[in-house]
Amino acid sequence: MIEKSMSIVGTGYVGLCTAVGFASRGYKVVASTHDPEKAELINKGVPPFFEYGLGETLQKVVKKGYLKCVPDREEAVLNTGITIISVSTPSQPDGSIDLRFVESSAGEIGEALNKKDTYHLVVVKSTVVPGTTENMVKPSIEKSSGKRCGVDFGLCMNPEFLREGSALYDTLHPDRVIIGEHDEKSGEILESLYRDFLGEEMPPMLRTNLPTAELIKYANNAFLATKISFINTIANICQKIPKADITVIAQGVGLDKRISPLFLKAGLGYGGSCFPKDVKALIAFSKSLGYSPVLFKAVEDVNNVQPYRAVRLAKKLIGDLAGKRVAVLGLAFKPETDDMREAVSIKVISKLLEEGASVVAYDPKAFVNARYVFGDRIEYARSSIDCLKDAECCIVVTEWEEFKQLEPGDFIKYMKNPLVIDGRRIYSPQKFGQEVKFAAIGLSA
Ligand SMILES: NC(=O)c1ccc[n+]([C@@H]2O[C@H](COP(=O)([O-])OP(=O)(O)OC[C@H]3O[C@@H](n4cnc5c(N)ncnc54)[C@H](O)[C@@H]3O)[C@@H](O)[C@H]2O)c1
Repeated sequence: MIEKSMSIVGTGYVGLCTAVGFASRGYKVVASTHDPEKAELINKGVPPFFEYGLGETLQKVVKKGYLKCVPDREEAVLNTGITIISVSTPSQPDGSIDLRFVESSAGEIGEALNKKDTYHLVVVKSTVVPGTTENMVKPSIEKSSGKRCGVDFGLCMNPEFLREGSALYDTLHPDRVIIGEHDEKSGEILESLYRDFLGEEMPPMLRTNLPTAELIKYANNAFLATKISFINTIANICQKIPKADITVIAQGVGLDKRISPLFLKAGLGYGGSCFPKDVKALIAFSKSLGYSPVLFKAVEDVNNVQPYRAVRLAKKLIGDLAGKRVAVLGLAFKPETDDMREAVSIKVISKLLEEGASVVAYDPKAFVNARYVFGDRIEYARSSIDCLKDAECCIVVTEWEEFKQLEPGDFIKYMKNPLVIDGRRIYSPQKFGQEVKFAAIGLSA
């Protein structure tokens, strides 16, 4: 029989999108969070963060009674047959992974299981380093429940690959399902759940052991981060070669079927809640095993300094930045999200402020979160045009679609000195004539 009820611990991007995704296809979902304000918002059909399409679907599933959010872990676990752990796994100061929330969640799930007589499946969806599910989650649950893994309860590791900005879509249409299983029965139950949930759209599925599934997630993110730092390295070489243009080079390289054009966009580097922390965690984890992964250290090194290239270009073109008004277009770590975690804009703006520039910034969605980061140290514009007004330099930091609509005439009309630094290669250099000075990552001057 297919399990039609589930509980989800952690209601961030992964937890809430998983909850809404399953609820939208008729599963009874109980989400749980320690934060009562967040639970109240969710129960009113309001997501606590911005994600396209999530609000509408959340409202529908709450109204129909398919999803509710509770602050009590026990209530969630006891009323369902499967519990998914999707709490955050942030970085510690030394870069290694902080597994406190996963461990405490496992303990709480175990306490609830102690009061349950029937079999229950626990699924770890949070990104965790290899060994966590077997050596931390399993003993925590066994200890607090007094039950045996593989007998009284099952355990799987099911890495998540959704992209913020299209998180709900990705939940409903994943390109693969990876199941790491403690035992065959656990894997069978999770596979049946996915087959029922995804129906004819069931993508390729891989069933494996727990540490392999855990490492697949890190390998995935480390590879994508490597592609980004790779193309940025070529872009930085390009910058020194007259007439060379990285966008055309990336196109040419991307036509190779072995490479693909995706994640070959030169720019100011990667940010966000996953790539930086996962690359750091993989490095720290490998070192703990006595292996130093020099490749990933280089990927990180390239990425750490890439944002400053925009500021360097600005200084090269207008000299000392002290007292100059600089417009920054884009604050979120990527378009279609309001997430500011490890956003490149933080490095760019901090450096601009350090140089004495006065910064005015605009982002279609992230201004509330940006205020927590920059406070009153910068000015917040209400639109991209408003942001350009009287600026002596404009830096494109996030590639929002609406910035692509700006015309050379806008920069000429509103800026004090029309100078554009395209940190995300959203404009064709040919678009700008003599009247707008144009510089871009990976485009020689
Ligand atoms: N955001 C992404 O794009 C993405 C994609 C794939 C995988 N992941 C991974 O999934 C996990 C969750 O990521 P996220 O972006 O959803 O995180 P998030 O920070 O958006 O949300 C995590 C949630 O867990 C809650 N939480 C923390 N401790 C808790 C506890 N003990 N009990 C209940 N709730 C608790 C937090 O309050 C928060 O709501 C991380 O391991 C992350 O690496 C994230």
